[in-house]
Amino acid sequence: MKSAVVLISGRGSNLRALVEAQLPLEVRAVVSNRADAPGLEWAAARGLPTRSIEHKAFASREAFDQALGDVIDELAPDLILLAGFMRIFSAGFIRRFPRRILNIHPSLLPAFPGLQTHARALAAGVKLHGATVHVVTPSLDGGPIVIQGAVPVLPGDTEAALADRVLAVEHRIYPQAVRWFAEDRVEFAPGDVVRVRGSGVSSDSMISPRDSR
Ligand code: GRF
Repeated sequence: MKSAVVLISGRGSNLRALVEAQLPLEVRAVVSNRADAPGLEWAAARGLPTRSIEHKAFASREAFDQALGDVIDELAPDLILLAGFMRIFSAGFIRRFPRRILNIHPSLLPAFPGLQTHARALAAGVKLHGATVHVVTPSLDGGPIVIQGAVPVLPGDTEAALADRVLAVEHRIYPQAVRWFAEDRVEFAPGDVVRVRGSGVSSDSMISPRDSR
């Protein structure tokens, strides 16, 4: 069975969705850069091993990344799953774990990389918004896309309402993407485009607005 380490910084609802999906995946540890992350408490209550490595205790991004990478190497997971992990990695960290780090991002990339994605989607007047699971590369939120899920932007939407609608999609697509990796069905086509073996038509990796509640 493949294994993973999940990295979180906050409430951990994506962590929860991943664990509750009962994937063929051994979660070796949940690691946070904040000792007070509520998701850590949930993981511990669930009997999962937890670790915290406070980024504030390190003099530089590189020093934190080195320490985190050393802990990950000790745990030796196949996958490193970012689930609301609010730190930007140094290129060195990403090169240390090529094609092994996945992230869930709350927008339809390449639209709205970075922060405040829901507010920016509303300000731009887009009619479709959503979430993306991608492989992490040194380009911020720019790595190969594994799956996306779309939701409509509705008249009168607030940032919070839109965030909730997107979060429900995140909780569906992240476990799906990780399942493909756990089942060893992911391959990288030329140009670093992700293809999933045996997923049938390409629309398997898209959830349409009609499907999402
Ligand atoms: C999610 O919206 C995720 O896409 C973003 O941060 C949020 C984390 O939420 N990267 P949670 O901690 O998984 O509940």
